[in-house]
Amino acid sequence: MKKNGKSVFACSECGYQSVRWLGRCPDCAGWNTFMEEVVRRTGSSSAQTDGLNPERIRDIKVEKVSRVATGVGEFDRVAGGGVVNGSLILMAGEPGIGKSTLLLTISGRLSGLGKKVLYISAEESRTQVKLRAERLGTSSENLYLLCTTEMISIKEALKSLNPDFVIVDSIQTVSDPDIPSTPGSVTQVRENANYFLNYSKKSGCPVFLIGHITKEGAIAGPKLLEHVVDMVLSFEGEARSSLRILRASKNRFGSTSEIGVFSMEENGLLEIPEASSLFLPSLSEHLPGSVIFPNQEGSRTLLVEIQSLVAPSYYGIPKRSVIGIDYNRVSMILAVLEKKVSFSFNSYDVYCNTGGGLRISETSSDLALAISCVSSLKDVPVPGQAVFMGEISLTGEIRHVPDINRRIGEAERLGFTRAVIPEVNLKDIKVKPSMEIIPVKWLKEAILASVKL
Ligand SMILES: Nc1ncnc2c1ncn2[C@@H]1O[C@H](COP(=O)(O)OP(=O)(O)O)[C@@H](O)[C@H]1O
Ligand SMILES: [Mg+2]
Ligand SMILES: [Zn+2]
Repeated sequence: MKKNGKSVFACSECGYQSVRWLGRCPDCAGWNTFMEEVVRRTGSSSAQTDGLNPERIRDIKVEKVSRVATGVGEFDRVAGGGVVNGSLILMAGEPGIGKSTLLLTISGRLSGLGKKVLYISAEESRTQVKLRAERLGTSSENLYLLCTTEMISIKEALKSLNPDFVIVDSIQTVSDPDIPSTPGSVTQVRENANYFLNYSKKSGCPVFLIGHITKEGAIAGPKLLEHVVDMVLSFEGEARSSLRILRASKNRFGSTSEIGVFSMEENGLLEIPEASSLFLPSLSEHLPGSVIFPNQEGSRTLLVEIQSLVAPSYYGIPKRSVIGIDYNRVSMILAVLEKKVSFSFNSYDVYCNTGGGLRISETSSDLALAISCVSSLKDVPVPGQAVFMGEISLTGEIRHVPDINRRIGEAERLGFTRAVIPEVNLKDIKVKPSMEIIPVKWLKEAILASVKL
């Protein structure tokens, strides 16, 4: 490491800088994440200028954003129709989740469309990538592979090959010896990402950066790059399940509400465009604590099982354990049930989770969650093929949910026969469904209409 500048300490997770070492990052609260960095006066390597003088905004001519659909439908859906020319995309996820697999699949499809694709692997050998490509059935003459960690070789390859798409696997393992900092450090990651940012903007060639999310913070995390890139995609899933979900948490060229659903199979990632019944229980029996909620993710409705287990607590403070749902939301709903409907959860442990581990962020799931807790507390199942939707206010009122027609439509298509919905949503229903609709205004009323107590 060449030392030719002042040194600072930087958090390897979020990039927060301090003149002295800190045990805990004041910004992202990570422990032991500070590493010494040498500050280099580089001018501004990331400066982007379009024009020197201010212009009237109405006089600016807009070029239409041009996109290339990759052919991986679930990816294109999340990206807003395809990859925008000149964009820099970060694909973040835990190690082993399938980032390399997804991007090699995308590379295969793009090269099949006649695009020249350069896949840079700084993590695996040529043989390893080749074996994966064989497993995925990728063998296009337009797909090039470069296995190196050196930015110098990468820059040369970009110049000589002049590709249409570039994949960097991963941004944390490439390094530039001119940057006086260890590979994987904040400075390295940031400077190299800036290089790819400039490259993509100048050449119009989209660049995908793969970034590992690290728990220990041993190498600089993708959080650091979020503001630099045009799109942040996260690839999620549970280790024990083959289900993978792709989400955009930032998208400068489209919405962030769409999700892509994949299954990790022996010979690669299988796209699941028909995912609406994937998160339902496999049993047809009705069990206490199991309630179905039509979850809206962008344009797609996924019917998901919400499960609760309310069990006597033998410790002083009852336990609350939640997976896939917001913890604070569960606490709030238990408090409303206690105060407004007189169900006491004081001496019970409460466990809540979602079918398939799907993460639900909608408050429209409140009612389903409340019914699920009551059903488990009383040990009575919810009868019939029913779905529940509604936000619960602190006063115990059932509030409006968006997209009511799509939710009801999808539930009906999958054979559900009853829907408990907020009364205020009745006027929004366009086509009278064949399923029974039960409008409710108050939580108490909703519970009485749903379970036999
Ligand atoms: N030979 C194989 N056969 C079947 N599945 C495999 C094989 N090799 C890897 N996988 C699957 O691919 C996953 C790793 O995917 P990968 O794309 O390398 O992840 P990442 O790049 O996110 O670290 C493994 O967890 C495993 O499920
Ligand atoms: Mg990988
Ligand atoms: Zn931090």
